[in-house]
Amino acid sequence: MSAATLFVTGGAGFIGSALVRMLIAESGWRIVNIDKLTYAGNLESLSQVTSNPRYLFSQTDICDRDALDRLFAEHLPSGVIHLAAESHVDRSIHGPADFIETNIVGTYTLLEATRAYWMSLATDRKSAFRFHHVSTDEVYGSLGAEGLFTETTSYSPNSPYSASKAASDHLVRAWQHTYGLPVLVTNCSNNYGPYQFPEKLIPLMILNALRGKALPIYGKGDNVRDWLHVDDHVRALWRVFEKGLPGETYNIGGHNEKTNLEVVDTLCALLDELRPRGDGRPYQELQSFVADRPGHDRRYAIDATKIERELGWVPRESFESGLRKTVGWYLANADWIEHVVSGEYRNWVKQNYSDRNAA
Ligand code: NAD
Ligand code: DAU
Repeated sequence: MSAATLFVTGGAGFIGSALVRMLIAESGWRIVNIDKLTYAGNLESLSQVTSNPRYLFSQTDICDRDALDRLFAEHLPSGVIHLAAESHVDRSIHGPADFIETNIVGTYTLLEATRAYWMSLATDRKSAFRFHHVSTDEVYGSLGAEGLFTETTSYSPNSPYSASKAASDHLVRAWQHTYGLPVLVTNCSNNYGPYQFPEKLIPLMILNALRGKALPIYGKGDNVRDWLHVDDHVRALWRVFEKGLPGETYNIGGHNEKTNLEVVDTLCALLDELRPRGDGRPYQELQSFVADRPGHDRRYAIDATKIERELGWVPRESFESGLRKTVGWYLANADWIEHVVSGEYRNWVKQNYSDRNAA
């Protein structure tokens, strides 16, 4: 019997590519990766699965309803895991339009294409179908010194990015409530790991340090984030997709609260050990306190007891082990970094990507 098909949107991004690599390596799903390939989409992150017969790629914008309808008709998926999004808070502050378009209009368009297809399914396939929306803890807003975000915390998004993700979460919930589409929503904390675009804190700091550039720390560096290794996140997504109850929300987090300064100090110490500077001076000297992010959320922290209790998921990586591996990965993958920084990965796609995968 041929493998059942799963659509993954945003599969060329940081978390999406980790999910696709894991599902191809460890599950029996046939994956159709639907990605527009914005600046953040990089097929080079998928080179290890490109030639697998269970993997297909379609360069498609989730705002393009006709293209989505064609993909559903051609591949007859059993579910969708939706990660495609504009994901960077600072970019959303400088230019919110793409966030409204992809995160809100794109999710709406994908929901409507999914609903039309789902309505056409026979009863058994219809009830087994899942639409899994991948979201963020930022929809809950900002915490003070105490407390954790739970699945019942009310929404209070503060940035254009988090407001657009909150809007998409509400749309997904409404499509379940109104139309009965079997949806799952997950809200996860800050991810880190290999193949992350170097606009986000951890890869930006590693790259700048290796180039002897300043390490820009917003404000006093005392904002707190709750860090989770990307491989732990994608294991949680897989677990929720296969075992979660339709209509439920699951928070995902690693119980790893750190101030930004603690993160950057740890990165500097790891780099001092693993790639000492030529002149022997500490990387910490490159730290530079800069103007704060407008509306900067103070603290995020996830209560992940529901997913642990109901689905048996716990993270495998501690922050210390995960960060050491991550720094090691960036040190060992200078080519990937060079291609991303220079934009050369677009040429790599043209040169290395076979027509077989271009749907
Ligand atoms: P990313 O920016 O690395 O990747 C996003 C991917 O979506 C890219 O491959 C891009 O080409 C694709 N994309 C963007 N617009 C598209 C469109 N209109 N049509 C099709 N594809 C499009 O993002 P990421 O960090 O991997 O995040 C993935 C998802 O997880 C997002 O929904 C994000 O909100 C959520 N999330 C991220 C984090 C995190 O720490 N990075 C934490 C929690 C949740
Ligand atoms: O919490 C989940 C969210 O985490 C995801 O939904 C987002 O997609 C993801 O980008 C991330 O958002 P953050 O804004 O928390 O991540 P970022 O890496 O941009 O910043 C992390 C913290 O570091 C934040 O407090 C801002 C700070 N920072 C960031 C950068 C890029 C700096 O101090 N200096 C920097 O140069």
